[in-house]
Amino acid sequence: MAGVNLLDTHPKTRRDYDKRVLEKTPEIIALAKRFDRDFFDGDRKCGYGGYKYDGRWKAVVKRMKDYYHLPDNAAILDIGCAKGFMLHDFKELMPDCTVAGIDVSSYAIENAMPSVKPFLEIASAESLPYPDKSFDLVISINSIHNLPLESLKQSLREIQRVCRGHSYITVDAWRNEQERENLFKWVLTAETMMHVDEWKRLFAEVGYTGDYWWFMAD
Ligand SMILES: C[S@@+](CC[C@H](N)C(=O)[O-])C[C@H]1O[C@@H](n2cnc3c(N)ncnc32)[C@H](O)[C@@H]1O
Repeated sequence: MAGVNLLDTHPKTRRDYDKRVLEKTPEIIALAKRFDRDFFDGDRKCGYGGYKYDGRWKAVVKRMKDYYHLPDNAAILDIGCAKGFMLHDFKELMPDCTVAGIDVSSYAIENAMPSVKPFLEIASAESLPYPDKSFDLVISINSIHNLPLESLKQSLREIQRVCRGHSYITVDAWRNEQERENLFKWVLTAETMMHVDEWKRLFAEVGYTGDYWWFMAD
C-alpha cells in the first residue's frame, strides 16, 4: 500500500474557490448529485461543464501499465468509469487487455465511448457485479468519496474482493486547514472527505491494501 501520484500528467486546473462557493446553492448541489446530464455536460456550476474526451488519460494509462508491470492481456476494472475514457485508452495501448467499468450514472454509460460501451454497466461501487479476484488492476478515480462513510468502507472491501493484483484509488483529501477550506468550498458531490492521515487509518481499518492518491484543493 503506497501513496503515489500516477495522475501528475493531467493538466492543472485553475479553480476559483470563492466564486464556486457563492454559486453552490442547494439546488445546484442536488442537480450535481444526480450524476445526470447536468453534472457531465451541463453548466460548469453543476459539474464538469462538458465531459469530453481529450486524450488526457493516455499518459496516465501508460504510467499505470509501466508502474504495475501489467501483462498485455491484463483484466482492468474502472469504478466510476463515467464515459469510459480511461478504459478506451487502456484498450488503445493494450489491445489484448480485458476492460470493465461501472458507474451509477445511466447518462454517462449511455453516452460512453462506443469502443468500450459494451463492457460498461450501471452499478454502485459498494456492490460490484464481479466474482472474487477478477481483475489484475482495479482503479477508481475521484469516485468512491461520493459515498457516505459506511458505504465507502464497503466499496473499499469490494475493491479488495474483486482484485487479484493491484488497485489504485484517488479521493478528496486535505493536508492542512487551507486545503480543507478550499475543498469544502469546491466540492459538489462528495459525501466523505478527510485529512490524508485519516484516510490512511481508514484504509488500514477496512483492510484496503492498494495504492492511493488525493484530489486536493491546493
Ligand atoms: C468526478 S467523476 C469521475 C469520473 C472519472 N473517474 C474521471 O476521473 O474522469 C465521479 C464519478 O463517480 C460516479 N459515481 C458516483 N457515485 C458512485 C457510486 N456509488 N458508484 C459508482 N460510481 C459512482 C459518477 O457518476 C461519476 O462518473
